[in-house]
Amino acid sequence: MTKNSPVSRSGRFGSGPGADVAQFTESISFDWRLWRQDIIGSIAHATMLEKIGILSESELSEITQSLEQIGQEIEDGKFAWKPELEDVHMNIESALTARTKAGAKLHTGRSRNDQVALDLRMWVRDEILELHQEIRLLQRALVSFGRKNVKAVIPGYTHLQRAQPVYFAHHLLAYVEMLDRDYDRFADSFQRVNVCPLGSGAIAGSTLPLDREFVAAFLGFVDAGDKPVVTANSMDAVSDRDFVIEFSSAAALLAVHLSRLAEDMILWASSEFNFIKIGDAYTTGSSLMPQKKNPDVAELTRGKSGRVIGNLVSLLVLLKGLPMTYNRDLQEDKERLFDTADTVRACTRLMAGMIGATSVNLDHCARAAGDPTLLATDLADYLVKKGVAFRQAHHSVGSLVALAEARKKTLSQLTVAEYRSIDAHFAADVKGLFDLNKAFAARNSTGAPGTAEVKKQLMRWEKSLRVESEA
Ligand code: ARG
Repeated sequence: MTKNSPVSRSGRFGSGPGADVAQFTESISFDWRLWRQDIIGSIAHATMLEKIGILSESELSEITQSLEQIGQEIEDGKFAWKPELEDVHMNIESALTARTKAGAKLHTGRSRNDQVALDLRMWVRDEILELHQEIRLLQRALVSFGRKNVKAVIPGYTHLQRAQPVYFAHHLLAYVEMLDRDYDRFADSFQRVNVCPLGSGAIAGSTLPLDREFVAAFLGFVDAGDKPVVTANSMDAVSDRDFVIEFSSAAALLAVHLSRLAEDMILWASSEFNFIKIGDAYTTGSSLMPQKKNPDVAELTRGKSGRVIGNLVSLLVLLKGLPMTYNRDLQEDKERLFDTADTVRACTRLMAGMIGATSVNLDHCARAAGDPTLLATDLADYLVKKGVAFRQAHHSVGSLVALAEARKKTLSQLTVAEYRSIDAHFAADVKGLFDLNKAFAARNSTGAPGTAEVKKQLMRWEKSLRVESEA
């Protein structure tokens, strides 16, 4: 802050801070990103000040026009940000005051404390809407991928050991479900973000007859019934960053989901699994080993979840020891928030692109899913249907697996006589059990990977996500 700055804080400071202090305390290098929200918020505030008689009509129109001009200059990259003016709020107000004398009245009844809270809420609000779209795009990519490979089957895994056969689409739809919960979490947090703090002043409101509801309605801080929603406690309003933490928390969980999907894809793309081939655009080669094709985008998605989780923890720690109300520490919220938002948006978007560029190695998948051991549970169910208690049936099938291993056969290669040597309830029809089509036909309770049920779920998602179905 220079002494003669147009928005100098007061006559109180004899000299500005030294260069090192200015550099340490500035936030313009990152909070310039709030410019759009800052300008809209100021126009709303000025409009209200005119309404309550503090600004004249012509002062309001000068302020509004100048702010719009400044916005245009920023948009065009022609605005000269001044680090000595500390942050986005001071930069814009200073530029405004340089253009119109009326600018000096804009900050009436307002503090940077409620101003930054307002800007940040509007920024998070916009970001949620953008992220919502990205999540939908990824869900659509997953559903389309499942539809395209609707016949593909793979082993489902627990403990990363082959467990039971599933449709590939069923596995993908698991992520569509996770992403839907992410979508809902952001939507839910939106209600708490969408509350207008302006009018709270530095800490204790204002003696001026500010019309907070007018500002809230002007800026779209309204409930489902279009009623303006404003914060109810000025001290809470200027020090609350719960909405930043909620956003970061929902984002961290989204990042974790993306990381798990990335990990599945990395495994599937390995020679050991060989279930999928990721398109060249999403992989890179090795500088040393000519044969390598590395799934870098998936690996970075997995890796970047770490910093998104770290950002959430940083924000929680940032808040935990703060006495009421605003403390400069809060300036540290922005880089964590921006980094989280940028990271999850990029990861979600690239994952959607990568899914679209991935193909399934159908025969490899079929071979892996055709492992008869995966139907051991079906064998136990067979016995249950003949009246055997499940625990006993489980034991018998375990003995069958051991027998097959000892005789170097698969479960399906054992003879009916061998089956009956373990449990006399087995009959000739047991051999029909290893037909995967039949196995899938028999799994049709809600949420199971049966043929009809997976098709039903695919169609449900196609309808709700309005995915063009090729079927
Ligand atoms: N740059 C500050 C922040 O990001 C704006 C609020 C400053 N308020 C103050 N009283 N110093 O938190």
